[in-house]
Amino acid sequence: MSSSVQLKHLSEELDLLEAEAANKIAEASDGETLEKLRLNFLGKKGRLSIVLGAMGKLPGNERPLVGQRANLLKSQLQELISQRLEVLKSQALEKLLAQETIDVTAPPSGIPQGHRHPLVTTTEKIIDLFSGLGYQVVEGPELESDFYNFEALNIPPNHPARDMQDTFYLDKSFLLRTHTSPVQIRYLENNHPPIRIVSPGRVYRRDSVDATHSPVFHQVEVLAIDEGLDFSHLRGTVMAFLKAFFGDLPIRFRASYFPFTEPSAEVDVQWRGKWLEVMGCGMVDPAVLEGMGIDPERWTGFAAGLGVERFCMVKHGIDDIRRFYTNDLRFLEQF
Ligand code: FA5
Ligand code: MG
Repeated sequence: MSSSVQLKHLSEELDLLEAEAANKIAEASDGETLEKLRLNFLGKKGRLSIVLGAMGKLPGNERPLVGQRANLLKSQLQELISQRLEVLKSQALEKLLAQETIDVTAPPSGIPQGHRHPLVTTTEKIIDLFSGLGYQVVEGPELESDFYNFEALNIPPNHPARDMQDTFYLDKSFLLRTHTSPVQIRYLENNHPPIRIVSPGRVYRRDSVDATHSPVFHQVEVLAIDEGLDFSHLRGTVMAFLKAFFGDLPIRFRASYFPFTEPSAEVDVQWRGKWLEVMGCGMVDPAVLEGMGIDPERWTGFAAGLGVERFCMVKHGIDDIRRFYTNDLRFLEQF
């Protein structure tokens, strides 16, 4: 074969290669196919290498013609392959994005929902029971004055009863209320008997923490003032309330002392095999009524203050008051 025939043959082969490769690259539908094409055309044993190998048989002056052409074709094909690869990548991405479109109208599944804290539902249950008896819900401030928290409740300065409720003071006359009883006084300032109120809220005491004591806890106050109320009404109301809340549970009334009630009692219920105090109560002391301008000869009343945490603990068999404040989902999810 003459060299010009060889040259013609190699040029034709390069033309063919160019056309075929361009077509196949344009048609390639994935990266794998492209890689096979690259090896087939440009690899060490690929078709371009074969042409370059055959070039050695050409006379020296003809070699550069083919060599330049082959090198140009090599870089053209490389460019075509990388362009095609980019196109395929962006097509794949678009497809993925289309598939992953979020249907914002689809109903959610398995999304954990929050719910109310057991102390909230316990408070609501207690309020419900008294609302049903005609009691009105009122609230008072957590930051109180010495007057409402102590003095108006018949607890003058230096009265030993102040030690019963070790107090967080802000200054000489302001404090964090130690019980919900000051709401009685605030209500009596502006309202006249007959009165039936129930008052939930947070209270504060410098108590050391244990399974049944927290320095911040919740009480519900109950106050009824009317003509002819006596201890049997107090006891009847408390017993009916406890039965409605707890069902049949051993209950103990125990004589006690509060400066603002006379006589006074505390109520214990069974919790984890022992008695647990859950509320204080008594007949409103005539001195408190007089202090509020209410004639104790005509009006009598009873009052009670209960611990919401302890009610909840007894009702649900909770072993430690600290569980209410540690926000452990394993605990909270049970309610
Ligand atoms: C009082 O606070 C009175 N104000 C109750 C009262 C109201 C008596 C009206 C008469 C008339 P006492 O300190 O006992 O009383 O507290 C009432 C209840 O709050 C207790 O029975 C208990 O259930 C709860 N309690 C008291 N201290 C704590 C504490 N540190 N942590 C959790 N609960 C407590
Ligand atoms: Mg007590």
